[in-house]
Amino acid sequence: MEKPYRKITTRVLQEMKENGEKIAMITAYDYTLGHIVDGAGIDVILVGDSASNVMAGHETTLPITLDQMIYHASSVIRGISHALVIVDLPFGSYQGNSKTALDSTIRIMKESGAHAVKLEGGSEVKESVERIISAGVPVMGHLGLTPQSIYKFGTYNVRAREEAEAEKLLSDAMVLQEAGVFGLVLEKIPATLAEQVTKSLSIPTIGIGAGPHVDGQVLVLHDMLGLNNEFHPRFLRRYANLFDVITGAVGQYVADIKSKDFPNEKEQY
Ligand code: KIV
Repeated sequence: MEKPYRKITTRVLQEMKENGEKIAMITAYDYTLGHIVDGAGIDVILVGDSASNVMAGHETTLPITLDQMIYHASSVIRGISHALVIVDLPFGSYQGNSKTALDSTIRIMKESGAHAVKLEGGSEVKESVERIISAGVPVMGHLGLTPQSIYKFGTYNVRAREEAEAEKLLSDAMVLQEAGVFGLVLEKIPATLAEQVTKSLSIPTIGIGAGPHVDGQVLVLHDMLGLNNEFHPRFLRRYANLFDVITGAVGQYVADIKSKDFPNEKEQY
């Protein structure tokens, strides 16, 4: 796979937006899959707090801790040589207090070796964004469906269909850009709104369930690989069905042991 850039930086992402080159982003939470997606040419790896769902089996992203995010991020970092690695600040590690936000960020940067952090929210996190950036750490924003606020929203439905919420989202996007974020995730909002935000901003936007008129796309790795049979949102394209592949492989392994076929003569010393 040809890699047009040796290492992806926030400056490279900005150039990609300016050149109309789409940005490919995906989540990863461990060394092995981080290494594979990096080698496959992904531009940006997000160590998302979706680890709370797909790695730990929680219903929401709220329970995952800062220590756990650092563990996942440091594992991913050891596997990569090309991608920019962004780490989610988990719920409770930044809300309401910019000093706490900076302390959490410093732990992530020092203990994992990641390149940037992401946090959810608009004007209410402006001060935290500015304080983190003033310490030299790039920050990505996240608007639309922000899963850490699930108990405020009540559902995982599409956000900002109503005019008032769409206007607030647009204004939050401008506030975040002014505060200095290098990019913005737009999750589960109407495609027309995502297009309007993308055209209004000079920084790159990355969509998930936000249509094609954004500067890049992100998916949760376990969802696009088909590791989870129960999650079928409309925006998700499945590129594999690893649930069936793994079930088949492990089923065959069990059968081979039971039938005494494994190990055979060549598989022993
Ligand atoms: O945690 C995550 O995986 C995310 C993406 C869905 C953008 O925030």
